[in-house]
Amino acid sequence: MSAPRRSVIAGNWKMHKGPSEAAAFLDRFLPLLPAEEDRTVILFPPAVSLGAAEERLLGRPDVELGAQHVHWEERGAFTGEVSAEIAADAGARYALIGHSERRHLFGESVEETVRKVRAARRAGLVPVLCVGETIEERRAGRAEAVVEAQLRPVLDAAGGGELLVAYEPVWAIGTGETASPRDASDMHRFVRSVLSGALGEDRARAVPILYGGSVKPDNAEELLGAPEVDGVLVGGASLDPEGFARICASGR
Ligand code: PGA
Repeated sequence: MSAPRRSVIAGNWKMHKGPSEAAAFLDRFLPLLPAEEDRTVILFPPAVSLGAAEERLLGRPDVELGAQHVHWEERGAFTGEVSAEIAADAGARYALIGHSERRHLFGESVEETVRKVRAARRAGLVPVLCVGETIEERRAGRAEAVVEAQLRPVLDAAGGGELLVAYEPVWAIGTGETASPRDASDMHRFVRSVLSGALGEDRARAVPILYGGSVKPDNAEELLGAPEVDGVLVGGASLDPEGFARICASGR
């Protein structure tokens, strides 16, 4: 029997919603969301919108904020970058690390993800490590090997502390293609076994594993009901307050 894990519904806004749109979203979204103790909602707005979102979230500890991306240094001459410390100061409690768009569009390496996970921990942020294979890798039967290669160095190097993992098959992100609940469960089970090997069974059991990739209001319930799926990381469908509230309502 595994210990109950809270269900996590996360929304990654990517490069959408400046401060005023973020505030307008929350003005519509929060009244639609009954606070529930066993569910956490995390929003990842653009870094410049964290402050405006934080103001709207006073009195709503069930909705938290995260940064989409952090630099590994604490401060310095890194024009355009946001450190984990700055993100934390702006209201973030989580940090997405290794999102496939960062890996594939911006060339983020596994080594960089390790440094970013360490930086997030240093700043008191909870890392949400994203892993996932491309369609070519899946067809070549390498999906598990690819996911393990993204996961293991982080687990080996980053030590203890709270962690979330998001399994996001690259072929399912923004494409309308979703992994079947069974495929998601199979990979989540595999991720859990890698976590167990590196962290020990007890700590591995406490790590929420989210599924991401074309999660929508009409498929969220089925995915969230799949064994080993502890939550979802939602991109496009998290931009609409009514739709995202429906997804949140699908959580256990
Ligand atoms: P999507 O994005 O829901 O639009 O497929 C998911 C993500 O990139 O986190």
